[in-house]
Amino acid sequence: MALEFKPAVVDECRKIISRYPQPRSAVLPLLYVAQREFGYVPKEAEALVADLLELPPADVAGVVSFYTMFHRQPVGKYVVQVCRTLSCAIMGGDNLADHLQKKLGIGPGETTPDGKFTLKWVECLASCGTAPVVQINDDYHENLTIQELDRLLDSLR
Ligand code: FES
Repeated sequence: MALEFKPAVVDECRKIISRYPQPRSAVLPLLYVAQREFGYVPKEAEALVADLLELPPADVAGVVSFYTMFHRQPVGKYVVQVCRTLSCAIMGGDNLADHLQKKLGIGPGETTPDGKFTLKWVECLASCGTAPVVQINDDYHENLTIQELDRLLDSLR
C-alpha cells in the first residue's frame, strides 16, 4: 500500500507552507511532520513532501541526507546520538561511543534487537562548551561521564 499523509496532516502541511513566502522554505518543518507521522523518513515520504512543495524529489532527498536529525530507516524508541567532533572527542566522547557500542551490543546506525535503542555518530551538536555531549531523542546530556551515561541508559530500559 502506498504511503499517504492523512487528510488532517495534509491540512497541517498546507498551513505550514502558507507561513513562508516560498513553499520550498517549508521543507524542514514538513520533513519533521513526515518523521513524526511515520517514525522515520522513507523515500515515499520524501516524495510526499516534494509533491506538496512542488519540488523535485531529489531536492528533498538532499535535505534528508544532509541533516542527521532525519532518520532514513526505522529507529528504536530512543535514538542515541553521540557527538564525534573535536571538542567532544577531546573531552571523552570517543570513550562514551566505545562504551555505548559494548553496552548496547550494536554499532553506529544499528538498533538493538528489542527496538529500544538506535546508535548514531553525529557531527557537532553545537554545545561544545559542555562536551562531551550525547543527544537522546530531543534531550541533550552534557558533560557526560561513563557512569552518568550508564545511569541514564538504565533509567530508559
Ligand atoms: S564538538 Fe560536540 S557539541 Fe560541538
